[in-house]
Amino acid sequence: MKNLISMRDLSKKEILYFMEIAEKIEKGELNLNMDKKLAALLFFEPSTRTHFSFATAMKKIGGQTITMRGTSSSSVKKGETFADTLQTIAQYAEIIIMRSPIEGAARYASEVVDIPVVNAGDGANQHPTQALLDLYSIIKTQGTLENLTIGVAGDLRFGRTVHSLVQALSEFTPRFKFISPSFLKMPTYILDDLLEKNIKFEELAEIDEKIDELDILYVTRIQKERFADPEDYEKVKGSYILEKSMLSNVKENFKVMHPLPRVDEISTDVDDTEFAYYFPQAKNGVYMRQAIISILLGGVK
Ligand code: CP
Repeated sequence: MKNLISMRDLSKKEILYFMEIAEKIEKGELNLNMDKKLAALLFFEPSTRTHFSFATAMKKIGGQTITMRGTSSSSVKKGETFADTLQTIAQYAEIIIMRSPIEGAARYASEVVDIPVVNAGDGANQHPTQALLDLYSIIKTQGTLENLTIGVAGDLRFGRTVHSLVQALSEFTPRFKFISPSFLKMPTYILDDLLEKNIKFEELAEIDEKIDELDILYVTRIQKERFADPEDYEKVKGSYILEKSMLSNVKENFKVMHPLPRVDEISTDVDDTEFAYYFPQAKNGVYMRQAIISILLGGVK
């Protein structure tokens, strides 16, 4: 495997290999050494977790990072093409980790340069490193990825994290409950994939409907920045909020996950319950991103 662009590119075996390596890293069972390796973090959209956890991961395995945030201080402003920018950065770094608002930008980058490219989020399309850390978090809390009932709530239309996660989980015989306002439903191409694989799913309107059947409730923010018409955002804003009072009948193993950032879709009174897992989930991102960098750079023997 040279690049990590989309969960659709990964087999079940490859997904499980990422899980195995992340677990060994967390347990301190692997001695990784990325000394003299440099990761270029190119972020053309805002990020807290993905940027910082990749930077943290690289440092923890002995490597270093260089960062470009936006294009305002780069020679793109002088008219340099994206392809020339990428080819130049590939002269300095051993791996490119890139976030872009443009769907397909990471795939394009991987075709331009001959060093590994990691998709750190491309528009509303994919966020595969988030999906891998989400799967790792599910294994840690449930002990398995197989046969789980997963609620996926929120902006299923524009949320790239849920697109990647649902595709990844579909290798493990899940039952999905998709919860969203009708304007923000899961795209048809993903539902068609699930139908083809005989994966069971149902679409619900209320966040606490059937919450007692779930092993995981994965909540997402409404992706305001992806709406073409601000009036459409105003219509769905605040349309679902998970509150502590809704958790009285959940299963013992139930966990609430969220890729973060959160706006108002999980009330802060959920944070202190045994069910909240979104901050440990963010921590798991460091182990998984150490695994991703090390595997792509051939550092895992
Ligand atoms: N989960 C996630 O992608 O967060 P950031 O946008 O802060 O990187």
